[in-house]
Amino acid sequence: MTIDPFTTTEPQIVASILSADFAKLGSEIGDVLAGGADFLHLDVMDGHFVPNISFGPAIIKSARHVTRAFFDAHLMISEPVRYAPAMVKAGAQSLTFHVEVVDDPATTAREIRKLGCRVGITLNPATPVEKILPALDDVDVVLIMSVVPGFSGQKFMPEALPKAREVKKRLRKNQRLEMDGGLHLETIAAARDAGVDWFVIASAIFDAPDRKAAIAALRAKL
Ligand code: DX5
Ligand code: ZN
Repeated sequence: MTIDPFTTTEPQIVASILSADFAKLGSEIGDVLAGGADFLHLDVMDGHFVPNISFGPAIIKSARHVTRAFFDAHLMISEPVRYAPAMVKAGAQSLTFHVEVVDDPATTAREIRKLGCRVGITLNPATPVEKILPALDDVDVVLIMSVVPGFSGQKFMPEALPKAREVKKRLRKNQRLEMDGGLHLETIAAARDAGVDWFVIASAIFDAPDRKAAIAALRAKL
């Protein structure tokens, strides 16, 4: 388990709880962290920006009570600045917003940073990298979506790889490159080769019969 993933440049396996069984979320979290996941990715969806609804601050707060692991919240919501304070109060330590929902991404990043958390920016597969460049100096993380956001278990989109390369060459040493969607044993090495630092994985961990073995096999590819 990694308490502050910015203190290491080692590749990080980030378990996305979207594929967890929410009836037993505490033990699901314990299971993947004991199984070797470095920290947790929390997919917040509003049914507006994406065609699915997941969870919000109440679940993050409950999860916060069962672990000290770093919480990376992926805000798939139309009004990230409006809900950011509640996410931080609930225990999220990094908030990643979508560039598609804001007019001025650098200002949004600075607004979120005022809350005392880390800040990430992300973009849909259809959004060009140029859109995020004005905010690059103001974020800690760039998240490249390798599926259309909304659901776990989708097929990896290789178009994400050149975008990752493009971003990686512009990042400072204290910034991290994250990829999310469709990562599994057959796709994770290509993401690594494109410069990804943080690998977000839901179904390839949670749906595996032996999660510890699944995480070890994924890490062996990095
Ligand atoms: C998709 C979410 C992802 C998702 C990944 O909208 O942002 O974090 O949980 O799921 P897998 O790893 O199954 O593609
Ligand atoms: Zn996500």
